[in-house]
Formats: sequence, structure tokens, C-alpha cells
Amino acid sequence: MYRTGIQAPQGVWWKPLHGSEKVWVSIAFIWCMVLFAMMPFWHLRGGQNPSGIRHRVEPEAYRARVTEFIQQYGVGTEGGMPLVEPPPGSHVYLQAQMWSWIPVLRLREGAEYTLHLSSMDLNHGFSLFPLNVNFQVVPGYDYGLRVRPNQAGEFEIICNEFCGIGHHLMVGKVIVVPASGDAAPMGGAR
Ligand code: CUA
Repeated sequence: MYRTGIQAPQGVWWKPLHGSEKVWVSIAFIWCMVLFAMMPFWHLRGGQNPSGIRHRVEPEAYRARVTEFIQQYGVGTEGGMPLVEPPPGSHVYLQAQMWSWIPVLRLREGAEYTLHLSSMDLNHGFSLFPLNVNFQVVPGYDYGLRVRPNQAGEFEIICNEFCGIGHHLMVGKVIVVPASGDAAPMGGAR
């Protein structure tokens, strides 16, 4: 005779837990609780958390703010894109749109900025190459991050959320000039 899963076996058919199994289940349960507790702990204490400032914003209002930002601190162009050099401590506005990042930013090493990210159309991803920095860029939200570039050089902003046929072409740029560097050759008002 054989049984199917539909007919429950009679009586006590299982074997009691072996001692080592009990220990293993206990360790696994305690570890689950530790991991569970780590979620709120890291939320409060983790150094990886972004200093996020979030506001709702209409895409057109954000676009207007970016345009104003470019007019205010624009110092030229870089690869056909406006090049903007905001003063240390200022608010920096970056616009994501299929399939570009506007404008190109020139920042100073060691200076602090508030970097605002928003999208004009759909979800994009802000990924700073070759560093491991990743943020969602969402339409309808202005996401502000307090940043302090700690390394001079040229960095590419790569979109890491698939956003259509031009996704792989969506590359922007951040130029970080050394703290002790000369004044910018294009001579923005500072
Ligand atoms: Cu924008 Cu992918």
C-alpha cells in the first residue's frame, strides 16, 4: 500500500528533533532576529545612508530651476552640454531625461554641495563611475544629497535604470578640480 499526499498518515509519524538539530534551529532563529534588528539599526547608524532631502516637484518646475542654475553659474560648454561651476556650499541641480544628464558639473574637491536629482520623464539611475555611488532619479521628486567630492578627476554619470533605446548612451560628467588647483580656465564668476 502506498499513500498520497492527500491522505494524512496516522498517529505520530515524525521523529523528535535531534539535539544538534535543536541547536541549529535555535542558532538560525537567533541569527534571523539579529538580522531583523540590524535593519532599523543600520537605518539609524549606518554610514552608508544618504543625507536625503526629498520634495515633490513638478518636472517642468524642476526643469526651470535647472535652467536658472545654468544661467547663474554656467561657465561654458563641454561636449555640447552646458558646463556649470557652482560655488562651494551651493545647491546643484542635475536633470535626468531620456537620454542625457544636464548639465556637466565642475565641482571643487573638499567643498560641500547639495546635489539635487530629478527626472523629466521616467525612472533613471544615477551611478557615478568609477566610484560605487548609486541613487534613484525619480520624476516628480527632487532628491537632494549633501555631497563633498573627496577625489579630483573626471567622473562619468552612468544611468543604471533601463530607460529605453538610448539607455546605454545616457552618460553625463562631473569634473572635480583639486582643492589647491588654479582658478578654472574658463573663469567663471566666483
Ligand atoms: Cu536613463 Cu537608463
